[in-house]
Order: sequence, then structure tokens, then C-alpha cells
Amino acid sequence: MKRFLIIGFLLVLSGCSLWEKPKQKTAKPQTDVIFGEISIIPQPASIIRTGGLFELNRETKIVVAAESSFRAANSLNEILFENYGFTLSVSDDRANAENSIVFSNIAANETTMGEEGYSLKIAPELIEISGTERGMFYAIQSLVQLFPLDFTGAIQIPAAEITDAPRFAYRGMHLDVARHFMPPEFIKKYIELLAQYKYNYFHWHLTDDQGWRIEIKKYPRLTEIGSNRRETVVGKSYKPFVGDGIPVKGFYTQEQIRDIVAFAKSKHITVIPEIDMPGHSSAALAAYPAYGCKTNYPYRVQTTWGGFPDVFCPTEETFRFLEDVLGEVMELFPDSPYVHIGGDEVMMDHWRDSAFVRELKRRENLKSEQAIQSWFIRRIEDFVSSRGKKIIGWDEILEEGVRPSATVMAWRGFEPGIKAARAGHNVIMTPADAVYFDHPQGNAALEPLSLGGQITLEDVYKFDPIPKELSPEDANNIIGAQGCVWTEFIKRPKDVEYMAFPRALALAEVLWSKQRVKNFPEFLEKLYRELPRLDRKNVHYRIPKPNGLFDRNLLAGEKMVLDLTVPIADGKIYYTLDGTNPNLKSALYQVPFILDVESNKPVELRAKVVSSNGRESPVFIAKYVRRGNSTVGKNYVPPLNRPEVKKKNGR
Ligand code: ACM
Repeated sequence: MKRFLIIGFLLVLSGCSLWEKPKQKTAKPQTDVIFGEISIIPQPASIIRTGGLFELNRETKIVVAAESSFRAANSLNEILFENYGFTLSVSDDRANAENSIVFSNIAANETTMGEEGYSLKIAPELIEISGTERGMFYAIQSLVQLFPLDFTGAIQIPAAEITDAPRFAYRGMHLDVARHFMPPEFIKKYIELLAQYKYNYFHWHLTDDQGWRIEIKKYPRLTEIGSNRRETVVGKSYKPFVGDGIPVKGFYTQEQIRDIVAFAKSKHITVIPEIDMPGHSSAALAAYPAYGCKTNYPYRVQTTWGGFPDVFCPTEETFRFLEDVLGEVMELFPDSPYVHIGGDEVMMDHWRDSAFVRELKRRENLKSEQAIQSWFIRRIEDFVSSRGKKIIGWDEILEEGVRPSATVMAWRGFEPGIKAARAGHNVIMTPADAVYFDHPQGNAALEPLSLGGQITLEDVYKFDPIPKELSPEDANNIIGAQGCVWTEFIKRPKDVEYMAFPRALALAEVLWSKQRVKNFPEFLEKLYRELPRLDRKNVHYRIPKPNGLFDRNLLAGEKMVLDLTVPIADGKIYYTLDGTNPNLKSALYQVPFILDVESNKPVELRAKVVSSNGRESPVFIAKYVRRGNSTVGKNYVPPLNRPEVKKKNGR
């Protein structure tokens, strides 16, 4: 199909001249809504409803003028084909623009919308999309969110003028494939999902103590030895250690990596490889113990989590090894301006014990082990920059100074990010308490085994990458933020999906949307409309909490009206009031009702949402207490005016 279209494009372009950008019609806005039937995540900068509908049908034509718009048009056809089984004809014939989708490519240096901005004008007779190739790709991601799930002869799209551009230049999601290997097909699925919500970076954490997952031709033992873990600790049974006896293995061949990187590029996602050093290096040292500081030391691919003293020894041999590795890595990721070199959580005991390192300290006048770490990172940075790339490191790289050209990922809270921004570094905010998506999404006791404190969907939505303390000038150094998915307790692709979605959609809106157009209740409405698209792609997202379910302190005499709305289309809410976990035999929530809450006798409601295909949410708990005070729970979300949901719920 693709090949056919490309040939078609070449044919139509031969002998035709590029036409002028169409004259812009000045549509008279009827309403200025930023929310309603036009439901797009992340929220565009401006939506003006202009009245009427465009009807997309099999006869609709795509009109393009240049190869870049052709590629963008093709990505629309791919989506149409995947969802509805048909594609639209593509030509450069504008003679009759009725029932057309017209793409206009604007060079990055000629647009006022920015390199990633776009304009999407939907009128009853035609749709006009303009922007850079990337901008047009984002316009399509917005447009297709306005399509219904199923095709019944025509796709009706509400007329509107959308102009849009991102708030942040760096919009990232990360995935740790070292702790648990994820197959290449899943990496592509993940990347495709990220692109759908206008992310532009995928940070691929490829190496760690528990696995080395990237083929390096010059050092085959890295994957022969380093990609194999004998077994994995069961839960958190570190001491005494209980292993599951199940080997974990897997790595990406260079061919698979090239394929994934090219796929990502077609979705306008840059893949940043991370090779973690000088710590988090047990798997590499199990393969090549000569690059550690210890002799006769039991280096091994680790089977538990946490920190390990294994560390690369800063010898010339080690640097040659790391430069060889990074050299191959940089060739595999030609489009990434960055290489992530880790730099986090380095334990320095082996350096302290090493006569070689003591001598190095004396020779280089390094006062502490931290200073060795900085010296190490600077050497690696010099090598990386000699190949025309920049380094990113976790915020520990700042400790004893690093060159200003290094980009810092601030993970230990906001403070390191503030410090780095003030020191003139580019900063990517990844504070663990806000955007580590391995943390539970609700009450940890009711969620899959995980690490860290709870980070709800609303917490993610309310996260602002720019700390208030920063001056506007320093704030400019915050280039964006990133959600991180560490996989110690996340074993399978579907578990990654559960932890990442829908939080990644909330973060997409943080990263892309202007603050003035953000609104959490509206986001939940949009999510309700969007989740069926994730179902269609078989994404095992965590089913969100019913709206209206939150802890309450009630005043004397105040009625406790339980008014819930289901968070997913065709879902059902089951609940209990006796402290047991609900199941499909529990009471079905149908209409709002008054809950009896006696003074000093708290009521605990446990609810579960079940989708039409039987998928179950975790258990959600709300507590109602009558003590004479009435305050609304911390996570209060006002019940939404959603007539179709109320109807489905039997009201
Ligand atoms: C990290 O979480 N160690 C970057």
C-alpha cells in the first residue's frame, strides 16, 4: 500500500509545479470553545468552533504539494487503514478542492507557528492542514482524535480552526528494559502510543546492574553474559534472598535497534540511548571484569534491586572500552543529538579501596571520590562531543561540576533541577515524586507491587516542570520533562501499559498544552472519550477512578449523596459497604443515593470499575466520616455533567 502511494506521488509530481498556499478563508467564529465535542489530548492552544461539519468518506481526496506533505498524508492514510480499512487517494490536483484534505508544508524557517506547531482548519467543504512536516504530523494526531471509533459510511468532524504549538521542546517518556526485557514489537507499540500524544523523545534505558540489552559488536560478552540473569528476587525478599528460579534474558540486535530507531523517526520521535556509567554497571563487569577496580571479585548480573558497589574503574583501558561502546551506540542512533550516560547512584567504595584510583587522585589533583566521578563524566563528555553529540546525565553529575553543555535530568526532586537551571544547564525535569511511573497510581496496598509513594493521575496532571522559584530567564533552561518507567516490578509489556497509561496522557498535556487551557475535570472528560482508542490498540491501561469518589468529612445533618460517574464507556461500578473488596456479584451502582453515615461511625465504600470486556480496575476506597466538620477530600473532582454516562449508568 505504502509503495503504491509513493509511486503515485512521484507520478503526480512529475510535470507539475508546486501550487501556492491556498488563500485563507476568514471563518467567522460562532463560539469560542476550548472544550466540548472537540476532544483532543493534549489540549491545543486554540480551538475556534466555526459551525457545521466536514464529512470524510471514501471519496475524500488528500491534496499534497511536496514530498514532506506526502509523508504526513501517508501517516493519515495509515491510521485510516488501520482503523477503518480504507485509504484516501493522494494527488496534487487542487482543481476541485471540495471534499479534500489539503496539506501545506511550511519550511521551519518560514513559519511563525514554530517547528512543531500546526494549523488545522476544518470547514464543511475541506480540511486544511499546514505546518512543517512534524507540525502536520501533529495536526493529524489531533484530527484523528475527532474521528469516531467505527466507520459507518462517513466520518463527521466538527468544523473548527485549531492552531497549536507545544509548551516544551522536550517531551519525553522513558523505559527501563534492563530490569525486565521488553520485546522489540512492544517498544514500537510504546513509541507509537507516545507519538499519538505528541511526545518527541523516547529515553531507552538499555543497561543496568540486572541486564545489558544492546548488542555491541566489539564486545560480544556484554550480551552473551550481561543480558542473562539467573533469576529474580521474589517481591522484596532481599534478606534472606528468595529467588524465583526463572532466568531473564534478552537483548536488541543492532539490526533491531536500527529498525526501531527508523520506526520512531517516522513518528517524529527521537530515541535517546542510555548506557549507565560509572555505576549501575554490574552486568557489564560480569562480562568484562577487567574494567572494574577489583580482581577476583564476584561480579555478576544482579538478581536483586537497589545499589551495588560494582563500578567502572577509571583506567585508560576502561575509557577505551567505554569509547568503543559509545562509538557503536552513537552510530546506531544517528538522529539523537544526545547520549545519556547515566551517572546516577554511584557507590564509590571500590574506588576508595583502589591503589590505582588513589594514584589517579594524586596525579589529577582530585580531592574526593565525587571529584573522580566528575572527572570521569567530563572525559566521557569530551569523547561524546568529539563525535558531535551532547550528553545527558542524571542530576548526580552536577555534584562536583560538569561542563555547562551537559543536559541534566533532575530526578531527586526539584532542587537539583533548580540548581542546574541556575548554573546554565539545560534541564529535563524527572522528579521521582511526580513523574516516576513505577510508583503506584493509588493506595499501594490495592495496586500491583511497586516502589515509592503514590502518584495519581491528578498528581501528574498538576505537575508543573517549571519550579516557581526560578527567574523567567533561568526557567528558560528547563527544556521539558519526562515520565520514567523503571521495571524492577514491571515484568511484562501489559504491566508497563498499566503503569504508564493513562498517566502518560496527563503528562502529555503538561508538556504540550499552554497552562491557560489546562483543566483537570475537562481532561477526565476527554480521557473518557479517548480510552476506547487505547482499547482498540489493546492497551492495558489502568482504569481510572470513578468521578465523585473521594473521602468526605460531613457536617452534622449533612446528607451524603453518593453521585458517581463511570470513568470508561460501557463500564460498570460495583461496590461494597462492609469493608470487603467488591466483585461482579457485589452491588451495582446505578443511580445516586443517600448513604447513611452516623456520627462517629465512619463508612468505607469500596468500588471497582469493570469494562464491557471484563477488565477490572483496582479497588478504590472512599471514607465518609461525620465529625461535625465538612471539608472536601484532597482529591475532589466535581461530578461531571456527562448525560450519556448517566444514561448508561441507568439514570
Ligand atoms: C534513578 O532513578 N536512579 C535515576
